[in-house]
Amino acid sequence: MSSPSIPFSRIGQWAEPPVISEVMKVALENKHLLSLAAGFTDTEALPVKAVRDISVALATSGKPPQYLQYGTTLGRPGLRKFVSKRLSQFDQHQSPDYHPDHVMLTNGSQQALYLAMQVLCDPGDILLVESPSYFVFLELLKGLGIEAVGIPINEDDELDSKGLISLLEDMKAKGMDKRVKGIYLESWFSNPSTRCLTNEKKAEVAHILRDAGLMIPILEDGAYQELYFEEPFPSTSVFAIDAFDAFPRLFFGTFTKSFATGLKAGFAICDHPELLSKMASVKGHHDFGSSNYSQAIIEHAIEQGDYDAQLKRGRKRYQLKMEVLHRTLVEEELQKMGWSWQKPDGGLYLWLKGPEGLDTSMDGAFFENAVKEGVLYVPGNLCFAPGVPKNYTRLSYGVLEADDLVKAGKRLAKVIRQFN
Ligand SMILES: Cc1ncc(COP(=O)(O)O)c(C=O)c1O
Repeated sequence: MSSPSIPFSRIGQWAEPPVISEVMKVALENKHLLSLAAGFTDTEALPVKAVRDISVALATSGKPPQYLQYGTTLGRPGLRKFVSKRLSQFDQHQSPDYHPDHVMLTNGSQQALYLAMQVLCDPGDILLVESPSYFVFLELLKGLGIEAVGIPINEDDELDSKGLISLLEDMKAKGMDKRVKGIYLESWFSNPSTRCLTNEKKAEVAHILRDAGLMIPILEDGAYQELYFEEPFPSTSVFAIDAFDAFPRLFFGTFTKSFATGLKAGFAICDHPELLSKMASVKGHHDFGSSNYSQAIIEHAIEQGDYDAQLKRGRKRYQLKMEVLHRTLVEEELQKMGWSWQKPDGGLYLWLKGPEGLDTSMDGAFFENAVKEGVLYVPGNLCFAPGVPKNYTRLSYGVLEADDLVKAGKRLAKVIRQFN
């Protein structure tokens, strides 16, 4: 029996399977594949003992098991207090903005990003994004009918301030500036570029926006802020940068990458009460509160030091894994074949730039050969707003163990040699 056609809403019509599912489907269909694609964390090192001990302690405390009860839309007060305090400590800055009342706990920071977009943008509105940017977020924008406009980069692949000025002038001339509803910046060990933004660069962006008359919400994503290898990057969040004082500010963070992905907990901090309250209202419609149990575990892990111990372990393991993959690619002489990348100081990725003209996208021969050779990566074109280069590749070293990282690196190098 054929199913009757349904007149879907615009969101229903625009909904497409996430591209990462397509990439992962390839991995599932090819069991021999080694995947450098999804940004999964280090399975072997997940905090099993800490989570078990905290669960047992909660269950045997003799107190009513409120952690198994519904929580609130904003989330557990104790964890919200930790979130505001940790960001204030990271920034080495104190202001009323770092307040638990300004924090909303969410089902991963992905939900917080979605909520922000739902309350800020209508279909046809514009969000300024870096080039490249977090590709799942770009898909989220597409799914809501929001146009992502990429900020130009300079010859060093860094955010180009002059390019941003010209872009905004051009948009103004075309009457597009009124549709610009925010700017999304990833300031630490960015997914995928692995770069960090200095305070100077961020302040420059603030001045450019102000000069263009765009006092728009600043959305700063700090997903990898604490996942540095040796030292934190010497910068602060936008909350501690004076140039942003007159802008509505939102900071997004997550406990998934730094502690346990499966607990799927993240947060937003916002210094604009109306914006946060609208996001909370819509969150109330989504779920009237994310997992109280996950939040309780994370709250106790932070309180008892397990969270910081896990971060410390993660930093060491990710640095080792990154070194293994980096070294393999160097030994396979990728640079001599016109490939380049910046060795990161944190995060989960290597961002490789191939020779001009190479096409690493999913429907190209390079991707097909990579699958044949048994290695999977994220095609870089997915990480750009439309009008994109196709010669970039994102590799994630989070999940695979060292031996497999070497094998995967060698397989990729073999494909690269076929296209050299
Ligand atoms: C830059 C960035 N932001 C946000 C997220 C969302 O993370 P989560 O929803 O697991 O907190 C991710 C996940 O990969 C990410 O890379």
